[in-house]
Amino acid sequence: MKHFLSTADLTREQAITLLDTAEEMHATQERSIRKLPALMGTTVVNLFFENSTRTRISFEAAAKRLSADVINFSASGSSVSKGESLKDTALTLAAMGADAMVVRSSSSGAAHRLAHAGWIDMPIINAGDGAHEHPTQALLDAFTLRRRYTAHRGVELLGSGLDGAHVIIVGDVLHSRVARSNVQLLTLLGARVTLVAPPSLVPVGAPVWRCAISFDLDAAINDAPDAIMMLRVQRERMIGGGFFPTEAEYSRRYELTPARADRLPEHAIVMHPGPMNRGFEIAGSVADGPRSVITDQVSAGVSARMAVLYHLLASNAREERS
Ligand code: NCD
Repeated sequence: MKHFLSTADLTREQAITLLDTAEEMHATQERSIRKLPALMGTTVVNLFFENSTRTRISFEAAAKRLSADVINFSASGSSVSKGESLKDTALTLAAMGADAMVVRSSSSGAAHRLAHAGWIDMPIINAGDGAHEHPTQALLDAFTLRRRYTAHRGVELLGSGLDGAHVIIVGDVLHSRVARSNVQLLTLLGARVTLVAPPSLVPVGAPVWRCAISFDLDAAINDAPDAIMMLRVQRERMIGGGFFPTEAEYSRRYELTPARADRLPEHAIVMHPGPMNRGFEIAGSVADGPRSVITDQVSAGVSARMAVLYHLLASNAREERS
């Protein structure tokens, strides 16, 4: 594995290895000294052309806990606002000694381009490209779900741990890179996935994804899922509008309200990648309620990203030091 661009690139064995490594990293995060020396002497650049709170900070924490140096680049306030291209920005940062780049961009394919255009030669990690993919989010979601689902069944954390789990992913699937990466990874790991959205927010290509599609949240809840993953309604990508009649109408059919959450199976968990629109796609009391694992997802994010950085960079770091 040279880059981490898409969950579609992973084999089931690689996905399980990453989850197992994330478990080991998670254990180190409960110690009093949380730092590991694995990436000492390497420099990770966070190249963020799009806004982010948790993903950028989480990558920064992950790299620092592995003892790497971190350079944070954000497009606002940089020469990108003077028209500098992705290529020149990447070449500049590579010339300053980057060993890996974590890239977020509003353009689908940006990370893939950096990895394969031949401009720079280093591991590239996709931290979200347009409405396309967000593979580390899917990894941290699978990590969170795997822990809960195996604990619920009283089995050990072995193998995928997700065979037979049923996950429903609800909301603005059309604009969600989280949904695509999750469908690919969760089904690879043996889970059954149902996408639930209004017809206007289902991507044209979704019928060929390995999952079911429903327009009816209440019916999907009656199907007794083990987890419900709510997606943010991405108003900033809804240029021109017209995806649903009114916000009230959307909430009436697709918000995870307390009444809907109460109808989920006892053990079912509520997930959301954040940022949330409370009172729109998810009620505040459900987001803060006992089923919610939303803050667990955030801490899993650091461990999952440590696992990815470790697998991409630790062997290089070892070779160079010897
Ligand atoms: C997601 C993203 O940026 O794709 N958030 C995240 O990374 N935690 C989802 C979103 O923006 O709604």
